[in-house]
Amino acid sequence: MNRIISAFTILVFLPGLLILLVLSGSTAFAQQTEDAITIIPKPVSVEKGLGVFTITQNTNIVAKGTDAEKVAGMFNYFLNKKYGFVLKINNTATKGAIVLNTASRIKLPDEAYQLKVTGQSINISGECSGVFYGVQSLLQLIHENSRQLSVAAVTINDAPNFAYRGLMLDVGRHFFEVAEIKKILDIMASLKLNRFHWHLTDDQGWRLEIKKYPKLTSISAWRDSTTIGGYNEFKPFIYDGQKSGGFYTQDEAREVVKYAAERNIVVIPEIEMPGHSTAVLVAYPELGNGTGPYKVPGYWGVLHTIYNPGEPTFKFLEDVLTEVMAIFPSKYIHIGGDEVPKDEWKNSPVAQQLIKDNHLKDENQLQSWFIGRIEKFLNKNGRNLIGWDEILEGGLSPNATVMSWRGEQGGIDAAKLGHNVIMSPGGYMYINRAQAKDKATEPLAMGNFLPLDVVYNYNPRPAALTPDQQKYILGVQANMWTEYVATDNKLEYMLFPRVAALAEVGWTTPENKDYKSFSENRLPEFLKNMETSGINYRIPEADVVVNDDAQTGRKTITITPFVIGGKVYYTIDGHKADNTANLYTSPILTPYANGRTLTLKYIIVTAGNRVSNEFSVDIK
Ligand code: ACM
Repeated sequence: MNRIISAFTILVFLPGLLILLVLSGSTAFAQQTEDAITIIPKPVSVEKGLGVFTITQNTNIVAKGTDAEKVAGMFNYFLNKKYGFVLKINNTATKGAIVLNTASRIKLPDEAYQLKVTGQSINISGECSGVFYGVQSLLQLIHENSRQLSVAAVTINDAPNFAYRGLMLDVGRHFFEVAEIKKILDIMASLKLNRFHWHLTDDQGWRLEIKKYPKLTSISAWRDSTTIGGYNEFKPFIYDGQKSGGFYTQDEAREVVKYAAERNIVVIPEIEMPGHSTAVLVAYPELGNGTGPYKVPGYWGVLHTIYNPGEPTFKFLEDVLTEVMAIFPSKYIHIGGDEVPKDEWKNSPVAQQLIKDNHLKDENQLQSWFIGRIEKFLNKNGRNLIGWDEILEGGLSPNATVMSWRGEQGGIDAAKLGHNVIMSPGGYMYINRAQAKDKATEPLAMGNFLPLDVVYNYNPRPAALTPDQQKYILGVQANMWTEYVATDNKLEYMLFPRVAALAEVGWTTPENKDYKSFSENRLPEFLKNMETSGINYRIPEADVVVNDDAQTGRKTITITPFVIGGKVYYTIDGHKADNTANLYTSPILTPYANGRTLTLKYIIVTAGNRVSNEFSVDIK
C-alpha cells in the first residue's frame, strides 16, 4: 500500500522525476518491496530510495581514511570473484564513485556501518570493520543483467547484535586443506561472521606444525584406519584400512590467519588438554599416565587416555602454546578442557601427589588446578583462555571465558559468576547433526538431528539471566565436528545453509528475526549464490501447505521450494519421487482418499540441476 501511495505522490507532485526514472529504467527496482532486500544477516534498518546506481568497468572506488584502501582491495577481490570486475581505486573524490569512508566525522561503533546508495553514488562509512561489512551488504545488493551491475537506491544503517559470531571447524578428526578453509572464510565474511575457531588437535590427529616437537606432525597427524558407519552401527567396529591425516605448516597457518584478518575474522586456535590428546601420547608417551602403548584411534568418543599433570606435560604445553601464540595473534586461546575421564589420574602417583600437595579435594579440582596453571601462563603472555564448559567443574579459573556446549547451563552459571560466555549449545548449534528427523534420508551424521529452523530460532541470551548478567554473553558459535565428514562436499553440505541461519542468530536482534521471511526471501538468494560459486549445500525441504477443499473432501497441496527456479517432482501414491515423477506446476488436488493418509514424496531440482534428497510428507 505504501508503495502505491508513494508512487501516486510522485505522480502528482514530481512528474518530471517520474519521467526521468522511467527513462533510466529504474522503476523496476523502485518497486521492489523491502523483502527484495535479500541481505543475510538481515540488517537493522533498510530504507529504499529511488533510482539505480550502475557499476561499470569505469566506476572508481574512492578510499578515504585509514585502511580504506585495504577494504577497497577486498571489495575488488569479491567483485572479481563473483562478477569478473576489478575497479580502479583512488583517493580523490570523483563523481559517480563508490566511496569507502573510514574517516567520517560521525563515529560508528566497531562493525557498524551506513550504506547509502543513490542513482549518483554509493557511500559506505564506519570504522574499517564496518565499511568492510557495508561492502559485504553492497555485494549482496548487486543485480547482474547482461554484463551490467546495478544497485537499487537504498539507505542501510546496520550494527551487530553480538560481538562474537563464530564458527568452529574440527580438523582433528578429518583434515581439510587450506584452500577449503579459505573458501569457508570467504562465506563467513559475506555472512558477517567474525570468529573462526580452529579445532586443531584431538585424539585422532594433531594438525599444527610445532618446531620443537616434530613427532607431532610425523606421527600424531596420522591414523592408520577409520571405522565405517555410525558409532553404534558395527560392533565390533569395522575399519576401512586407509591411512589418513595431514597437518598445517606454521607458514600455512599464518597464511590462514592473514587471510581471515583481511576479512575481519579472528582465528582462535584450540589446543585440547588434558583430554582428547591421545594422538600426542602416541608420539610422546612420557606425557601420559603410563597406560601405553598408544595408537592414534580410528574411532571417536570420550577416550580415557589423557595427559599426566606433571612438570614434563606443562613444559610441553607451554612450549607448544608459545609457538601457537607466535602464529595466532588472537586475544583468546582455546584450551579445550572437555570430556576428561579422571580414572587415569586416580591411579597416577604424580596426580595423587599433586592433589595432596595442593590441598585439592579430588581429580576435578586437579583439572581445575591444571587449567588454572595454563591460564596463568596465557595471561602472563597477554592472552585469555577459553574452555568448554567442563572447566567450571572443580572451580573456574579467574579470567576464563566459557564456551557452553552441554546445553546452556554452563553458560548461565558462568555468566552468574561474572565470566564471559560464548553460547554453542548442542541442541541448537551442533551442525554436525543430521538436518532431518528421518536420518535414513540424510548422509551419516553425528548425534541427534538439528534442522535449519531450530538453528535460526535460537536466542543466545537465556531468559534465566538478568539483563546485567546477559552482558556476559559475548555471542554465539556453531560447531562442526568432522568424524563423519571426510570430504569438502560433505563439509559444505553440513555447513550450508545452517551457517546462514547462524549468521542471523549472531547479527540480527530477535525482534528483527523472522524465519518465514528468512526462508522465503533471503535464503533462496543465498542458495543461488552458493550454487553459482560452486559451493555444495543441502537443498532445504519446500514449504508444503495442505488445504481442505470443503465441497469435495479432497485437499490441495501447495509446494514452494526455497530455491530460485527450482523444479519439484512428486508422487502421492507413496512411490519414489525422481525425475520420472509428476512435475509440479500448480497446487495438487488430491484424489478421493476416503479418509486414508496419502504420502507425498518429492524432490527438488535446482536451476543448476542439483537434486535434493527425497522428502516425504503424510497428507492426512
Ligand atoms: C564437545 O563437543 N566435546 C565440546
